[in-house]
Parts: sequence; C-alpha cells; structure tokens
Amino acid sequence: MQADSRNLIAVREPHDWTPDSWQRKAAVQQPSYPDAGALAVALADLRALPPLVTSWEVLALQRQLADAAEGRCFLLQGGDCAESFADCTSPLISNRLKVLLQMSLVLVHGLKLPVVRVGRFAGQYAKPRSTDTETRDGETLPSYRGDIVNAPEFTAAARQPDPRRLIEAHSKSALTMNFTRALIDGGFADLHHPEYWDLAWVEHSPLQDEYRHMVDSIGDSVRFMETLAGPIGSFGKVDFYTSHEALLLHYEQAATRQVPRQWGWFNLATHFPWIGMRTAQLDGAHVEYCRGIRNPVGLKVGPGVKPDTLLRTIDVLDPDNEPGRLTLIHRMGAAKIAAELPPLLQAVKAHGRNVLWCCDPMHGNTEALANGVKTRRFANIRAELDAAFDIHAAHGTRLGGVHLELTGENVTECLGGARDLAEGDLARAYKSTVDPRLNYEQSLELAMLIVRKCGNALATRATD
Ligand code: PEP
Ligand code: CO
Repeated sequence: MQADSRNLIAVREPHDWTPDSWQRKAAVQQPSYPDAGALAVALADLRALPPLVTSWEVLALQRQLADAAEGRCFLLQGGDCAESFADCTSPLISNRLKVLLQMSLVLVHGLKLPVVRVGRFAGQYAKPRSTDTETRDGETLPSYRGDIVNAPEFTAAARQPDPRRLIEAHSKSALTMNFTRALIDGGFADLHHPEYWDLAWVEHSPLQDEYRHMVDSIGDSVRFMETLAGPIGSFGKVDFYTSHEALLLHYEQAATRQVPRQWGWFNLATHFPWIGMRTAQLDGAHVEYCRGIRNPVGLKVGPGVKPDTLLRTIDVLDPDNEPGRLTLIHRMGAAKIAAELPPLLQAVKAHGRNVLWCCDPMHGNTEALANGVKTRRFANIRAELDAAFDIHAAHGTRLGGVHLELTGENVTECLGGARDLAEGDLARAYKSTVDPRLNYEQSLELAMLIVRKCGNALATRATD
C-alpha cells in the first residue's frame, strides 16, 4: 500500500503487472514490423533516451484532474487528430498553442474557474485504423497508421512499418515539447500580453469583437488587481500538459520508467495517455498496460458500451477510486448521446466512482460526404456538447472538460461555424490526412458556446 501524498488514500501497487505484461494479452491495432531485429534495436535506443516529462508534472496534473472532477477547474484537451513529422515546425506549434491559450482565456473568463490545459501533441503520432490494409485499383498495402509507424503515400515502400520512425517520433515530440515549454516560460502566455496570441489571418473574423471585448476586460482586471496588490508575477506562466493515445504499446513500454523516491512506474513520454475506443477491450493489452502506470489515464467511451462493462473497466484501471486517476471521455455523437450516456452516468454514480467526465464531441460526429471527403458539422459538434451539459446536469453528475480536434491553421475541414463553411469550401484548405479538425475560428466559437451554456451553472456549483 502507498499513501497518496495529498489525498491520503491508500493506493495499491498493481498486482502481477510489469511494463511488458501487456504482451501476454491480445494487442489490437499494432503494426507488423517485417524485421524483429530492427525493432529491438530501435526500442533499445528509445529506452536509453531521456524522457519528455517528469513524474512531478504527472502527479501535479493528476491533482488538477481531481479538481476538475470536483468542479474546481475545467479541463481543455485539444490538438490535432494526428501530428505529422512535417508539421513539427515553429508556426504550426505556436499557432496551435495560441488557439489553446485563447480558448482557455475565454473559458477562464467566462466560467470563473481555472482551466487545465492539455495538448493533444508531442506524441500524438499513432492512429487506429478500421482495417489493417487499404486497397486502391486492385493493389493492397498496409494501412497508414500514423507517422510513428509508416508514411501516408500509397506505395509499398511508404506503407512498410519502419521502427526507426519510433526514434523520430520521440525526437519530434521532444522538439515540440521544448519549443512549447520555451514559449510558455519565455512569457508567451503572459496575461499582460494576450495580443501575442493573435493569429494574423483572423483580423476580420466575425468573432473578433466579442474576443477583443473580453481581452480588454481581463486587461482591466489585471491592472486593477496590480494597482491594489502590486505586480502579479505568477500570471506570466500557465501550465501546459501533453497527452496522446497510448496506442503503440512497444513505444509506450519503452517510455515506462521508475524514478527515484517514487514507487511504481510512470509513462514519461506524456503526462496523460488515453485508451482509444478501438483498443478499450477489458482483457486487452491496452487496458493491461494502462492499469499499471501511475499517470492519470483517459478512457474513450463510445456508443454501445454497457454500464457493466464500463464498471468492470473502471475497476481494472482505478481499483482504489483514486481522485484524478481516471477520465472518462465520452464520444457518442449528437444523435446517440441522449440514449447512450444516461445509463453510464447512473451506473458510475451509483457505484460512487470518482471519475472526471469529459466530452469529445468530435469522434461520434464524423461523416463522409458523397465525394468521400471526411468532415464534421459544427452544428452536430455543438449539439453533442450542449446535450452533454444538459444530461450531466439532469443526472447530478458534472461535465468537467472537453476533448477537441483543432488546429491554429486556417483549414476548411469541418462544415459550418461563424463563417458557415459549406461543402464547396472544404477543398480550399483541407490538410488533415486523418480526421477533420476545427479551425481557429470554429475552436474559439466553441469555447464561447461552452461559456454561454454552462458558465454560471458551473461557477455556482463549484462553491456549493
Ligand atoms: C481519436 O481521438 O483520434 C480517436 C481515434 O478517437 P476514438 O478512439 O474515440 O475513436
Ligand atoms: Co481523431
């Protein structure tokens, strides 16, 4: 038994678990590497490299997620569906950070609550696929599984899984992390200068007035408080955490480390790994891997999951009902949430399970247009999020966060939003090789909608 330092609850070390015990279970969604020797060499190299995050940060995030579950803060988790190696560039990283910072400013201002910022980046390189192979014009090749595995071009060479990509993914994640940390530590996130986060292309956005008005009012408050209390230095810094889907288990295992003066094992490739919907089998390898690490863990919950299965999965992942340990990220789709979510909320509540509920309004709302292009309608994303707040309120549970796919670029991948993008607009700037993302304006609009929907209710409940 180990005592959790803040919550003083007894946490048991996981029984019969090792960083490689997942290998005794069925592991879906793994590539088949043609050369086992080359894979072993890459994994040995990975194990020798320094990690990306520290155990202190991981535990600090867990405490904040516990606060979010209690309504003392709100989780904003967002970023690309999948990062690509080519996108590890200065403008793409800083633009994504700007959007997340602006959204969090909208949320902090509107909800009157701190926001826990978690990026879907610095390691979000692996993608689950619905089929192992793809066939075009009679030729069948392995599916593209993300840049950490292979390349998207439809050639035999590009689609061959290459273990050296594991090392490149680690390096690109480290570069992303390094630049993100430098921006934040260097004052980029300073509340005195929200203009640093402006994105040039949105000067004429329909949302600019509302956003400007809010920034001005925050500026006034900061100046007012400084007049009373002197310079507020700590405003210069915000915390930023990283997350990715724990999909490619050899990679996750290589990042699983022990650290001095802490018991157990941490995944130090990310603060917050999550289990995707396609790999959430109760007796599968992904649940086995995640049950043993000390990081807070996310679990995607999609349509069709039965309350009993969910409760048993919670028992495996969080046997001690540890605050902040487990985030349930529901992604039902606008059409299904009203039928699918209530039984799960009731079961989890009735069993007194201490989870953080988070809504991913993206993955249940993906559709293909007649021309085969994948998109999402802003109206459906909004409808699912609206419904999620209402359903939680009706069941006496709390929606403590959102999980979004977004980018700081001026892409045209999701339909609708402030500029009412239409099907004909999608071709103009459709860049995603996987799921369609909200662009900057659509993301900011969603943050404003969250505030309008739940601002007062959340603030009142947090104090009662
Ligand atoms: C994702 O988050 O990119 C994803 C594939 O989600 P899900 O597992 O919920 O389908
Ligand atoms: Co996605």
